[in-house]
Amino acid sequence: MIIKKTCLLALSACCLVLPSLSFAQPSPKGPIVVQGAMPIEAEHFAQRLDNPKEQQIGGWRFWSGTVDGYPVVVSETLKGMSNAAAATAIAATQFHPVAIINQGTAGGHDPALNVYDIVLGKYSVNLGAFKTPHKLKGEGSDSLQWKPMDLLASKGSAGEDKTPHTIRKFPGDAQLLAVADSVKSTYTRGKVVDGVIGSADLWNSELDRISHFHTTYQTSAEEMETASAAQTAAAFAIPFVGIRVLSNNITNDGKYDPQTGLACQDYVYQVVKAYVAKLDADKK
Ligand code: 5AD
Repeated sequence: MIIKKTCLLALSACCLVLPSLSFAQPSPKGPIVVQGAMPIEAEHFAQRLDNPKEQQIGGWRFWSGTVDGYPVVVSETLKGMSNAAAATAIAATQFHPVAIINQGTAGGHDPALNVYDIVLGKYSVNLGAFKTPHKLKGEGSDSLQWKPMDLLASKGSAGEDKTPHTIRKFPGDAQLLAVADSVKSTYTRGKVVDGVIGSADLWNSELDRISHFHTTYQTSAEEMETASAAQTAAAFAIPFVGIRVLSNNITNDGKYDPQTGLACQDYVYQVVKAYVAKLDADKK
């Protein structure tokens, strides 16, 4: 009787385990997502995909295709922090990417960088999250006195947070940065440097403010999407990097050139090819 019971127990344990084993499949490989805010920052890459298929989800366009046989999705995020966060969340849940690259144009904060130079974001920061000091009516406003507000620091009121006001840094993935670094020499339009990307729904044209960001937060360039996409990608634990070309730099009279967006996509195409080669090599 005892033996019978043991056998029954063992049998039912097997039944519990076996079905899950029999359904265990190798997980399908997720795509690499390449983001660009404006048509001029996304369509050129989409045209380089093999067998691209366009899809609209909400207000956002996505093109699914392949590069060297590996799935790649180009995402037109549209401009600004909210659009970038939403497009990243959609990409994460719809496509389950192995990596996200946010790329496009930016304005220089570093006078040593010229239009057409490219910044690989070793990290990005939100240049729109600050708390102002208290000032009485008539005391005016000075944005250089504003302290960064880390919106991820606690679950309490951000305004009352007693944690030190240090700026939140969203790191670029080390492997993506290494791969981007490895194809630097293919880029002939300017330098490729590691740096800090600052993002906000703002276009700063005040040189004192730009210089303040550059010295206080080490920003190399500013734009409107990377830190937001980085924050969202981090919430899904998806490796992420921002890659930005300078389309303008008022710190050294670098005039705006929209064609820089095409050059950036050509460079990022080389980064994607190298990343695909790495993923293939890692599989072997
Ligand atoms: N400041 C802010 N955004 C910039 N962009 C290019 N240059 C700048 C700049 N100097 C990018 C943003 C946005 C669009 C206006 O161009 O990322 O998508």
